Amino acid sequence: MNNIPVDQDDLDEMTERQLLSHANKSNQQRKKGKTLVKQKGSQQIIKTVNPFIEAEYPFTYHASLHDKQWLMESISEFYDQKWFEDILSVVKGGKEATVYLCRAPERIGKPLLAAKIYRPRMFRNLRKDHLYREGRENLDVNGKVILDERAYHAMQKRSAFGLELLHTSWVGHEFLTMQVLHEGGVDLPRPYASSNNAIMMDYIGDEFNAAPALNEINLTPSEARPLFQRVLHNIELMLACNRVHADLSAYNILYWDGEITLIDFPQAINPEENHNAWRIFARDVQRVCDYFKAQGVACDAPSLAIKMWKAKGRATQPEIDPHFLDPEKDEDRRAWQGQKK
Ligand SMILES: Nc1ncnc2c1ncn2[C@@H]1O[C@H](COP(=O)(O)OP(=O)(O)OP(=O)(O)O)[C@@H](O)[C@H]1O
Ligand SMILES: [Mg+2]
Repeated sequence: MNNIPVDQDDLDEMTERQLLSHANKSNQQRKKGKTLVKQKGSQQIIKTVNPFIEAEYPFTYHASLHDKQWLMESISEFYDQKWFEDILSVVKGGKEATVYLCRAPERIGKPLLAAKIYRPRMFRNLRKDHLYREGRENLDVNGKVILDERAYHAMQKRSAFGLELLHTSWVGHEFLTMQVLHEGGVDLPRPYASSNNAIMMDYIGDEFNAAPALNEINLTPSEARPLFQRVLHNIELMLACNRVHADLSAYNILYWDGEITLIDFPQAINPEENHNAWRIFARDVQRVCDYFKAQGVACDAPSLAIKMWKAKGRATQPEIDPHFLDPEKDEDRRAWQGQKK
């Protein structure tokens, strides 16, 4: 019998089964208040996990018992560190994460914050995650690169421990990307703190309504053109930071008080490190143009994408990895010379 998965879809199914069984085991242990033993690098970390006591749930938001437990596990660390004072409501449950509205402490200088909490199920939706992971470092909970060999093998094998590291790496990657882009002046929620499955960030909206995404609204003709220019400006700012959003569309651009805010960055790529960057970039520009065209803005996505991409001297042809070239063949030598120019 052959147990080795043959393609990415098989891998994803296996991943999900493993995650579920891992989550069940952890839950059983937790209910019994057992000690969890985790491998971290070459060290063993022994952690006593206390069973969840419902009477100690401190937040205004009424969640199901399961979600209360999930919330406490996910963000009690932020609560202890006083990043927020209360959870008020659910903003939205996305495919990969649920976003909660939180009351901020005074020192933040804003009344409300958003907490984005990932679900382990996120792996199911990342069928092509290898496309985005290319060239990417695996990050630990502090956004540091994981260099430990045992951790690396666990991730390759997708063992329960490896899956946990991969999950944390996606969250760490989103947080790091948000920090870089915030420094670069991109219109996005300011990121404040991250844990192994959650990020605290600025909330867009007010206490009654969260900002809608562009796909939920129609713009007036006088608004559409300048907002389109603003999105293009943001795409250029991201390129200047060596980042491509990689899931940009009207679904991931919020609208509030006449302004736009880009969200949802876990799959962002660095065009210097990813061979598919041009294709992924052109798709982002196409999706943005599709929305604004429907709002009456005349635009040609392919030529806009080429103009922005080439402005930084980037080539629109993917480079060929020299490992695939044969120096004995004239054709391959020419390709290599052309690539080096
Ligand atoms: N900072 C924020 N302020 C207000 N609303 C937000 C914020 N971040 C996210 N949201 C809302 O939560 C939804 C889910 O967030 P996000 O897109 O980051 O997660 P996701 O799980 O990847 O979602 P999806 O898979 O649906 O794209 C968004 O579509 C948006 O409506
Ligand atoms: Mg989204």
